[in-house]
Amino acid sequence: ENDSTVSITVVGASGDLAKKKIFPALFALYYEDCLPKHFTVCGYARSKMTDAELRNMVSKTLTCRIDKRENCSEKMEQFLKRCFYHSGQYDSQENFAELDEKLKEHEGGRVSNRLFYLSIPPNIFIDAVRCASSSASSGNGWTRVIVEKPFGRDSESSAALTRGLKQYLKEDQIFRIDHYLGKELVENLSVLRFSNLIFEPLWSRQYIRNVQLTFSEDFGTEGRGGYFDNYGIIRDIMQNHLLQILALFAMETPVSLDAEDIRNEKVKVLRSMRPLQLENVVIGQYKSHTKGGVTYPAYTDDETVPKDSLTPTFAAAALFIDNARWDGVPFLMKAGKALHTKRAEIRVQFRHVPGNIYNRNFGTDLDRATNELVIRVQPDEAIYLKINNKVPGLGMRLDRSNLNLHYAARYSKEIPDAYERLLLDAVEGERRLFIRSDELDAAWSLFTPLLKELEEKKIIPEYYPHGSRGPVGAHYLAARYKVRWGDVGIDQ
Ligand code: BG6
Repeated sequence: ENDSTVSITVVGASGDLAKKKIFPALFALYYEDCLPKHFTVCGYARSKMTDAELRNMVSKTLTCRIDKRENCSEKMEQFLKRCFYHSGQYDSQENFAELDEKLKEHEGGRVSNRLFYLSIPPNIFIDAVRCASSSASSGNGWTRVIVEKPFGRDSESSAALTRGLKQYLKEDQIFRIDHYLGKELVENLSVLRFSNLIFEPLWSRQYIRNVQLTFSEDFGTEGRGGYFDNYGIIRDIMQNHLLQILALFAMETPVSLDAEDIRNEKVKVLRSMRPLQLENVVIGQYKSHTKGGVTYPAYTDDETVPKDSLTPTFAAAALFIDNARWDGVPFLMKAGKALHTKRAEIRVQFRHVPGNIYNRNFGTDLDRATNELVIRVQPDEAIYLKINNKVPGLGMRLDRSNLNLHYAARYSKEIPDAYERLLLDAVEGERRLFIRSDELDAAWSLFTPLLKELEEKKIIPEYYPHGSRGPVGAHYLAARYKVRWGDVGIDQ
């Protein structure tokens, strides 16, 4: 083991994701001594570039952790020396065979393990996988492939993609990334639930009134309109990131922490869910808005987006899990671009206290008196529980206060980027945080009928101003299920 090597090939090395996330994450792992002793990073793309040019490009994106500046530039130099470049077509066996030769030189006859990160558009996934597996897979170690969404755009295209991949790879060689699973607070969800006595007994329809999963960004699709217009926010965020969080939130206790045990439980939740109905969904699209003399563009102002596009940049949905634990509990999702704030959080609203002797202290608005547990995934990670508390003094006045676990105050350590965790797991063969194909199928089954209906009926999105709180329709939807959205962003 000690003498084996791992070669990490970033296919699509000059792309945005590679530059912003993959290379920096690999460096962070190197800095933390998490990569094996012998490793090579190889960028692969069509453009011509020398090793020196790749290193120069990569060096611009590497950063040091705030708490670990020591020897950082030295470490960067050492890391960059392990980075190489190979130029080739994505569908050329010959070019991949050349890559193979190059990797072999670096591997120096050791047992070679190979990880390919496909950071390329989905229409060339299969070509690249075919060439990599036939011409550049490891002869004596493992070969794994990391793929990023979009995994198709509905059940059929996703199944076709999986079939295509499986012509050349076994299921256990495919690592489908959902980078939200690599986020610290998403990983912590299971710890919170299963290693504390006080939450799990409350974790059901008996005590939970509703669960809200929110994703919001305060910028539009800037520059990504070409990709985005073919997918929309439901496919971009809900079907994967928010649904994955929901599955982890709602699953039964897994038999163990093994990847298969956890993924089995997640699939069970997904398969217990009702496919989404049009009436339980509100869609929106941002329009231009002028504030303080600055004009923020509409979604359709993007050059790469058709002027008459109906693609949603916002969606709210009510989902239901028809099992014993969650029968009747609305899970509300909300995801949007160009909203007033950037935030991702899970909010649990508990039931009213039966026969609460303090009810009169809350006036008529009993909702305000219920407990809420908020898991703020980002930014400024925190977990807090809203409780009712007596305002100190001689009278009897109650207010709502937070029991607050604020990560920045509690832990001085910088939180690693999601891609670090995921890349490390892929190198180590830990599959817990990657999406299995039956899980992916189940996720698509929930959304595909709705997505088709939206497109066939050409449903017009509700327009909302860039930088606003989104369409009011989201409030009506929630109100139908007696839910009020939590005040995202103004809790503290
Ligand atoms: C990606 C989406 O999966 O997640 C993007 O395609 C989105 O549209 C991004 O901006 C958000 O990720 P993060 O980690 O910045 O919250």
